Amino acid sequence: MAPDLRALQTTPKALNVTKKKTASVTREKQVFKPSAEFQRQANLGSYAAYKKLYNESVNIPEKFWERQAKELLVWRKPFKKVLQWDAPHAKWFTGGKLNVSENCLDRHLGTARENKAALIFEGEPGDVRTITYKQLHFHVCRLAHIFENMGIVAGDRVALYLPMIPEAVIAMLACARVGAVHTVIFGGFSAEAIKDRLNDCKAKLVITADGGWRRGKVIELKTNVDKALNDAPSVQSVIVVKRTGTPVNMIEGRDMWWKEAWEGAPNKHDAKAFDSEHPLFILYTSGSTGKPKGVLHTSAGYLLGAKLSSHYVFDLKETDRYFCSADIGWITGHSYVVYGLLSNGSTVFLYEGAPNQPEPDRFWHMIDRHGITILYTAPTAIRAFMRWGDNYVLRHRLDSLRLLGSVGEPISPEAWKWFHKLIGKGRCPIVDTWWQTETGAIMIVPLPGSAPMKPGSASLPFFGVVPKIVDEKGKEVPRGTEGKLIIAKPWPSMLRTLWGDDERFAKTYFSDYPGIYFTGDGAKQDKDGYFWIIGRVDDVLNISGHRIGTAEVEAALATHPAVAEAAAVGRPDELKGQALVVFVTLKTGLTSSDKLKDELRAHVGREIGAHAKPDTVRFAAGLPKTRSGKIMRRILKEIAAGREVKGDTSTLDDFSVIAALQSED
Ligand code: PRX
Repeated sequence: MAPDLRALQTTPKALNVTKKKTASVTREKQVFKPSAEFQRQANLGSYAAYKKLYNESVNIPEKFWERQAKELLVWRKPFKKVLQWDAPHAKWFTGGKLNVSENCLDRHLGTARENKAALIFEGEPGDVRTITYKQLHFHVCRLAHIFENMGIVAGDRVALYLPMIPEAVIAMLACARVGAVHTVIFGGFSAEAIKDRLNDCKAKLVITADGGWRRGKVIELKTNVDKALNDAPSVQSVIVVKRTGTPVNMIEGRDMWWKEAWEGAPNKHDAKAFDSEHPLFILYTSGSTGKPKGVLHTSAGYLLGAKLSSHYVFDLKETDRYFCSADIGWITGHSYVVYGLLSNGSTVFLYEGAPNQPEPDRFWHMIDRHGITILYTAPTAIRAFMRWGDNYVLRHRLDSLRLLGSVGEPISPEAWKWFHKLIGKGRCPIVDTWWQTETGAIMIVPLPGSAPMKPGSASLPFFGVVPKIVDEKGKEVPRGTEGKLIIAKPWPSMLRTLWGDDERFAKTYFSDYPGIYFTGDGAKQDKDGYFWIIGRVDDVLNISGHRIGTAEVEAALATHPAVAEAAAVGRPDELKGQALVVFVTLKTGLTSSDKLKDELRAHVGREIGAHAKPDTVRFAAGLPKTRSGKIMRRILKEIAAGREVKGDTSTLDDFSVIAALQSED
């Protein structure tokens, strides 16, 4: 697994390769070493140091994790056993008790961090708020009291549907403080999607805002919640943050303003200790069926994974100002805006709005104004910045930056190099972090200062992570061969189950390779042991870094009265990574039209959210099917990409369908 250091150390810049070599070989040979200056100050300054710690973490994992858990977390009651593994169920740090919010807040009080900024917030209109650790603690304590007065008890589910404002962080930590399980619903989801999530986890309380700012417009959050609540009987109360001043309908006895609830609530709160395995949050994500999966994370193992990885991956220093552009509604916002960073006592910069509001240089402006040192963003954003043009970047200094990160999809070597050169000025290492909602924390990454970087490769496993590339039968494939990515051993921040559906949990993740976690991704490992992620091998699309299940889109389309049958597939897209193409057959007697295309796109927007609206709607007289009636997506993918249909079509029931589809637009 060790990279061949001779190859990696030959030159500090990208190696020159002869033209004869193939593109993929060329890609793998490009190596960027972290600068000596970065290495000198790094939390982990050499490949040897990484290797030593990594070997310990996988050879004697229980000892490694015991030490990390004792050193990094504040325990109220020490744990007895590090790991209880009864595949697919893991229990970490059993017998131990702690409070996650205490680990993010109280532990910093009475230290030099007390008056340090925990959050620096900039709203899209330009309003700025700084909240110190001490102030954040007050806010969280107050909300914890409010929760308790409302009758929220440990284990109750609380849904958050909020913009990227400090109240979102306060609400998450207040849930953790009282042992309530939060489920954050991304602000782009529609009323229908909110309703499904509320009903699945039977949420008792919803916290929302009147609205949030996005590209100069108000997203009406409370209105969506109101619609969802017409059919979500478990919800008893709604707390509403005033953000945009948009008029909202408040229902007496159910809805209250955050500010009014606030008044009189004490700002000290004795946090109870909860079991290591107490549920911390549910986060819904797309899978291969129409119903989103409620990924469940628990307390100690998750927090440890988020904290340890934040420290090493972002090379955190006391003086850093860290900006992660992910929304709090995704796992990145959970692990690398809130839990991992605040438990490390870092200063987190939060931005509410769009990267191109008012101009496409908003990020660069903010980085200069706030002295941001670390930027963690997504390839889809990087591609948009590239498209908007270098001039927007070049008018800013960006000299405070010292580290860059990427997450959510494979980053092309071209985008990587642009990011490195234009944003990082050749000086900042880039951490390309591979992980998933389910893994809770970063799993594969070139640790800055210790691992040479190869543009486009997520690189090497993080501590305690044992990734392998295998074939259909679970046999490891030779280096350089594509296969399926599995994680061979349990790790502390792994999901524990799917909320209310343990059977689906076992089937989805641990049945392809019995007892072993299957990621759903295809990947390969190069001769130096570096991992190259290829993408999903299941029916999940990655559109602008958002996970969208094709089955969810199909289920949404099926509820439209004009639709007889629909199939959703992805096609490569320069900006979004993948674009969503749907093939629709209409009910008898109905005719296709541009108006109907628009209507179907809007319908998916209403059923799921604007981020899931199909890019292309194609009407078809019939869909390619096997003789047993299964839609042949492989064929549709090729048609959607404008490629010739190749491969085995012997099971296809009706060949004329393909010709018809190719001629349709
Ligand atoms: O396909 C992989 C891709 O995103 C999927 C996980 O999506 P989600 O649970 O929404 O979490 C995204 C943020 C962690 C993975 O199965 N993915 C994530 N990071 C990378 C990636 N693909 C390539 N390179 C990455 N760095």
